[in-house]
Amino acid sequence: MVIQVVTLFPEMFSGVFDMSMVKRARLTGRLDLRVIPLRAFGVGIHRQTDDYPFGGAVGMLLRCDVVVPAVEWCMMHEKTPARVILTSPQGRSFTQRLALHLSRQDHLIIVAGHYEGIDERVRLLLQADEVSIGDYVLTGGELPAMVMVDAVSRLLPGVLGSDDSAKDDSFSRADGWLEGPQYTRPVQYRNLSVPDVLRQGNHRAIAEFREEMARQRTRARRPDLVSD
Ligand SMILES: C[S@@+](CC[C@H](N)C(=O)[O-])C[C@H]1O[C@@H](n2cnc3c(N)ncnc32)[C@H](O)[C@@H]1O
Repeated sequence: MVIQVVTLFPEMFSGVFDMSMVKRARLTGRLDLRVIPLRAFGVGIHRQTDDYPFGGAVGMLLRCDVVVPAVEWCMMHEKTPARVILTSPQGRSFTQRLALHLSRQDHLIIVAGHYEGIDERVRLLLQADEVSIGDYVLTGGELPAMVMVDAVSRLLPGVLGSDDSAKDDSFSRADGWLEGPQYTRPVQYRNLSVPDVLRQGNHRAIAEFREEMARQRTRARRPDLVSD
């Protein structure tokens, strides 16, 4: 899959895109990830990318005659049709389900907004989806773009150690429960010990224990996810 991230701040992405699962996704060849500097598409001798909003609102907006050519450039340089995502606090929520759906696409272009946002004509002309990572306002779309790339890359086949590992994660499990508590060594730490059942090798008992813990945890923390 190809992901192109269009941003005013390409330097923010080094580090995050060069480590851990995103790095692994790139090394396995499953993910071709490029960061496209929006400034290169700026207008005039100062390569201006933003301007004042009409109607006298505060702040600046990214210009449509900068963002649209940048995204069209991305489209032109890839063979497969792209799905365009504008990061926006007003967009549909980025969920595990959406991450899974996006991981099945061949080509994504994610546009990181900045300032007070992006001229509305970008969304209309590019038929882009707006996606939000939560009900709060960040300074720019760079962190949301990183969040989306991370969540999508680990779902690409062969990226996690086992393709089954993601299936047990919260929000991915078939039963809809959150994952329950997990333990590793040491067996005893301060006055807390690992539950005996997890160390006795009875796989059925372990599965039942884990399921019960997952139910209890979900009811306590996210009753909105519980249907029974
Ligand atoms: C300061 S915000 C603009 C907020 C905008 N004025 C509004 O009220 O909806 C600047 C940019 O950050 C990004 N952004 C901020 N919060 C976000 C969120 N929760 N999810 C996704 N993108 C976000 C978007 O790209 C947005 O264009």
